Amino acid sequence: MIDCTYILTVYDKFLDLTEKRETGARGNSKKALNLATHVIANTRLIQTEKGKANLLKAATFRDIGKLGISEEILNSGEISDPNDSRWEKIKNHPRISMEILQAAGRFFSPEVIEIIKHHHPWYESEGFLLNGEWNELTVSCQVVSIIDAYVGLRSKRVWRKGAYDHNQAMKELLNHNRRFCPSLLIYLSPILIKMDD
Ligand SMILES: [Fe+2]
Repeated sequence: MIDCTYILTVYDKFLDLTEKRETGARGNSKKALNLATHVIANTRLIQTEKGKANLLKAATFRDIGKLGISEEILNSGEISDPNDSRWEKIKNHPRISMEILQAAGRFFSPEVIEIIKHHHPWYESEGFLLNGEWNELTVSCQVVSIIDAYVGLRSKRVWRKGAYDHNQAMKELLNHNRRFCPSLLIYLSPILIKMDD
């Protein structure tokens, strides 16, 4: 039987390689893990021990599938038009993440895989509410989605000068009110600011 520490070490290495390929992405999985830890410690959104463990793993490994996207695409600049051909490629990364994590068998539960599958949903338009209801799993999808976007905005990117500060990042996220649950965004704001704590 393979021990969990070994699996984590291997997947951490994959994450490291993934982040080195994208300008400004180094350390983002640790920042996302840190934020998910704060969400668990400071809210009652996720109450079961299994749900908490799932959230931490999903936040950490959500973007590991970028390993399957070319560096040229990853570093080609901002994509604001959903019809941009680069978006067709980048939007595959949750599916690739799922495939990479499923290779570890039971180490990543079906719930972790489900959260990662839905970490780029559109709150209003793509039915992110699995089975049409709020539950621990759907809240986790939305929390990881918000964390993913927030960490990206607080990072240096090739297409903008420097990283956004907290207020700029929140303004940007709130402008995308069809992508994220607005009340959850506002609720999480005092927690998101703790990213570097
Ligand atoms: Fe992502």
